Amino acid sequence: MFVSNCLSVNAAGHLTIGGADVTVLAKEFGTPLYVMDEATIRESCRQFKASIDEYYDGNGLCVYASKSFCCKEICRIVAEEGLGLDVVSGGELYTAHEAGFPMERVYFHGNNKTEQELEMALAYGVGAIVVDNRTELERLGALAAKAGKPARILFRVKPGVDAHTHNYIRTGQIDSKFGLALETGEAYEAVRAAMDMDSVDLVGLHCHIGSQIFELDPFADAARIMLDFIAKIRDELGADIRELNLGGGFGIRYTQDEHPRAYAEFMQRVSGAVHETCARHGMDMPRILIEPGRSISGPAGITLYTVGAVKEIPGVRTYVSVDGGMTDNPRYALYEAPYEAVVANRAGEPRDFVATIAGRCCESGDLIQEHTHIQRPEPGDLLAVFATGAYNYSMSSNYNRIPRPAVVMITNGKPRIIVRAETYADLLRNDL
Ligand code: LLP
Repeated sequence: MFVSNCLSVNAAGHLTIGGADVTVLAKEFGTPLYVMDEATIRESCRQFKASIDEYYDGNGLCVYASKSFCCKEICRIVAEEGLGLDVVSGGELYTAHEAGFPMERVYFHGNNKTEQELEMALAYGVGAIVVDNRTELERLGALAAKAGKPARILFRVKPGVDAHTHNYIRTGQIDSKFGLALETGEAYEAVRAAMDMDSVDLVGLHCHIGSQIFELDPFADAARIMLDFIAKIRDELGADIRELNLGGGFGIRYTQDEHPRAYAEFMQRVSGAVHETCARHGMDMPRILIEPGRSISGPAGITLYTVGAVKEIPGVRTYVSVDGGMTDNPRYALYEAPYEAVVANRAGEPRDFVATIAGRCCESGDLIQEHTHIQRPEPGDLLAVFATGAYNYSMSSNYNRIPRPAVVMITNGKPRIIVRAETYADLLRNDL
C-alpha cells in the first residue's frame, strides 16, 4: 500500500511508522518533523552486508554514504552494523569522529578538499582519501610527507558510463566535475605520478556513476571498465590495486510506480562481471567496496507537516500549504523529484483529491509535489511525505530564517530525538 515497508495504518486510521502512530508523534514533538525508523536502516545495512559478503567471498565492504543523512546517531548505527563511512567534507568527517566512528573504515571523498580538511583526515587516520585530481594529489603528497606517514589513497575515476538518471546526479560520464577521465589518459598519468611518490600509497580506485539508478547494466559496465583499467596499469606500470570501490546510486522507491530491484540482484549481476573480468585478466579479485547512501537512509524516513491553508483556484489547481517546504526538502524544487504523501490522520481513506503541496517560503518554486493524490485535506490535518530519509535533512537550509526541524528515530515503536529542532536563538548563534 505504501512505498516503504515501515509504514502502515492502525485501527484509528492513522499512519504509523515503525509501529508508532504519527499523530502521537506530531503532538509530542510538533511539526514539521523528520521521523526515521531504525529497523529499516539496520535492515538495509544487513542486506547490503550479507549480499556483499556472499557475492565477493567475504572480501568486500559496504560503505554508507553519509551525505544522504548525516548526524552522530546514524554514524553510531552504521558503525555497529559493521559498515564503513563515506564522508565528503570536514563537517561530515568531524561528525563521524565525534560519534566515535572507527576512522580506519572512513573514506574521504570530495572534488576540492581544502588543505585543512586533508590535514584533518590525516590526523584522524582515515582509512583512505579518495583523490579527485592531480592538484589534490600534489597537495596531499606534500602534507603526508610533512606528517611523515604515507597517505592511503584511491583515485576517483570517471569510467565513461552514462547512467539514465537526472542530469544533476549523473557523474560517470566524461563531462563531470568529479574524478579523472579514462579516455584522455588522465587517470593513467595520475596512477603513474602516484607510483613515483613516496608519500602516497595507491591502494585502490573508485568510481560512482550517478544516483537513483534502476538499471543493472551501467553498474556492471562500470565494473568491467574499471577492472580492465586495473589490469592495464598492472601490466604496463606494475600497479598493485587492492581495492575497487564501485560507488553507490541504487534507486529507491519514491512512488508506487517505481520498482527497484532487490540489492542482492545488483550484487549478483555486478559480481558476475567482476569475477569474469578478473578471470579474463588472470587477476586476483581486489577487495570490492560499494557506497550506498539513499538506499540505506531514504526509505526509513518520512516528514510530517501540519496543513495550513487549502487554496482552491477553480479550473487551475489546489494549493495545500504546509508548515515546512523547500527548507526541509529542496528536492522537488531542484530536481522535480517525485514523492507520495497522505493525510496521515486519515491515511486509510482513498487518496482521491489532487493537490499541489506548497511550502511556506517566499518562493513560487517552493513546492513539495504538484498534482499528487492525497485525501481531501482540511486545515489542521497532518500531512506525511514518504521516503524523505535521504537528501532531505542533509540538504536542508535556513532560507527565510526558518529553523530546521528535529529528527526523531523510532526504535521498537518508541520515539527518541536524535537531532534537536533548531531554535530562533540557534539562527542568531553566529550573528554579531
Ligand atoms: N558515493 C559517491 C562518491 C557519491 O557521490 C554518492 C552520491 C554516493 C556514493 C551515494 O549515492 P546514493 O547511493 O545515495 O545514490 N542530492 C541528490 C543526490 C546526490 C548524490 C551525490 N553523490 C539527490 O537528492 O538526489
